[in-house]
Amino acid sequence: MPTTLDHKPHVAIIMDGNGRWAEARGLPRPAGHPVGADTVRTIVQTAIEEGVGALTLYAFSTYNWQRPEAEVAGLMSLLRQFLLIEAPKLHRAGVRITVLGRRDRLPLGLVKAIGAAERRTAGGKTLHLRVAIDYSARDAIIAAAADRPDAGTLVARLGTEDVDFLIRTGGDQRLSDFLLWECAYAELSFTQTRWPDYTAADFRAALADFRRRNRSFGGVTEAA
Ligand code: IPE
Ligand code: IPE
Ligand code: MG
Repeated sequence: MPTTLDHKPHVAIIMDGNGRWAEARGLPRPAGHPVGADTVRTIVQTAIEEGVGALTLYAFSTYNWQRPEAEVAGLMSLLRQFLLIEAPKLHRAGVRITVLGRRDRLPLGLVKAIGAAERRTAGGKTLHLRVAIDYSARDAIIAAAADRPDAGTLVARLGTEDVDFLIRTGGDQRLSDFLLWECAYAELSFTQTRWPDYTAADFRAALADFRRRNRSFGGVTEAA
């Protein structure tokens, strides 16, 4: 459990509201996704500045394959472009990139971009950026638990520590099968703000709110 003061938090974000952001402007839903990608750049930079240890972003769920083909293709191409363009910059900033989720259904170009980004940034120590693509927490848990491992082995296979703080933008208050094991004791934060409108200041304010929270992990904590 993260109890020490110098623990760098693991923050997870369900980046939601791109489609509604576009619709509210009379644009087709997918027009929100490239603007959402700009928000990702801003929030990753802010995470570095705020001393976040790991940042896990929900980019595409296993359920998102149900969307119109053109929207799915646009998202796959946007993810590939993001990795190709950002990986060298993030590498220079000391960021390690890893991708979680299934790879066998992704376009080959994206699979290659993921592999290249992971290899290039493997030594990064500043921030661990984890991008969830074709991800389902239930699928991840079933895969990691197939041979009844102990909790430590299971956690190692899931690939990260517990989530300390989970944010969901876009107004809905649900987990949508994201990091179900890792969020067992996560602090939760929901905002109406749609992902393309989410700013560095919003993120800083959310982190400040998180730092003020009293985390008792089932024990007793003194009143603040
Ligand atoms: C989140 O925005 C991005 C992805 C799920 C890929 P949405 O596209 O879900 O936006 P809304 O929820 O329809 O507004
Ligand atoms: C969750 O958003 C998945 C991602 C942000 C990638 P959705 O928009 O797919 O979630 P639901 O379907 O509204 O729960
Ligand atoms: Mg949505």
